[in-house]
Amino acid sequence: MNSIKKCLFPAAGYGTRFLPATKATPKEMLPILTKPLIQYGVEEAIEANITTMAIITGRGKRAIEDHFDISYELEHQIKDTGKEVLISEIRSIIKTCTFSYTRQIEMKGLGHAILCGETLIGDEPFAVVLADDLCSNDDEGILSQMIKIYDKYQCSIVAIEKIPMSETNKYGVIAGNLVDNTDDIYRVTDMVEKPDPKDAPTNMAIIGRYILTPDIFKILKNTPPGKGGEIQITDALLEQAKEGNVIAFKFKGKRFDCGSIDGFVEATNYFYKKSKPSIT
Ligand code: UTP
Repeated sequence: MNSIKKCLFPAAGYGTRFLPATKATPKEMLPILTKPLIQYGVEEAIEANITTMAIITGRGKRAIEDHFDISYELEHQIKDTGKEVLISEIRSIIKTCTFSYTRQIEMKGLGHAILCGETLIGDEPFAVVLADDLCSNDDEGILSQMIKIYDKYQCSIVAIEKIPMSETNKYGVIAGNLVDNTDDIYRVTDMVEKPDPKDAPTNMAIIGRYILTPDIFKILKNTPPGKGGEIQITDALLEQAKEGNVIAFKFKGKRFDCGSIDGFVEATNYFYKKSKPSIT
């Protein structure tokens, strides 16, 4: 039995970097080839044996709910045309998983979005996927890797990546001590949200994958707005880190920042080449 049964997808943000595309379309529904970003995230959760999906939405995000629902009219329209295969993956996702939704009424930051998920998650450890960080690894998905780390350390886990020092102001950045003589697992000692390069403790950045223990909800309720006036998950995680309860894990695989135009184009090219191996 999986120790992590639920995955939370904060998807209420405005996606302003993709305006005007995101004016009436959720950022999470922008496609890399033929699949929307959020479907890649859900597939990663399924690969990690999670089938309960909890999605934080907001105004203008109805398309996400419609995507994870059956469209009888469409099914009727494409029946016996040979095109059914195009929706076979999403149909199997709908059959395998349950989807629950709650709205974040005011966009008060990622920490606040996660707190909005409390009623969907309850009192158990859970995964968090930011669908605009698209992760890919052929052998084992990033969430799967993280659940193994959680099973060993039984505390919150954040996925990290080394980034150029000049980009620390776009990420939560950690400092930590190596554990178990591996070069990819750290016990976190400090965390800073979007520091200037000159103030950053390291260049190890948190990317959009977390396993959180449920005490995070109580901490978030008492976390004041931080950087940018938003309730930051980094600030809440720092409280857990002070007790030695956060592990940072350098995951194996690729990550594309699909919340930025460069990352989105890179991911599109990567998946296009992967789908057509003859292209170099
Ligand atoms: P981003 O920082 O990428 O913000 O949020 P954004 O609004 O999606 O995009 P830009 O910067 O305006 O282009 C990181 C993740 O946190 C979610 C977003 O949906 C995204 O998955 N989020 C952020 C919320 O759900 N609620 C918030 O209040 C803020």
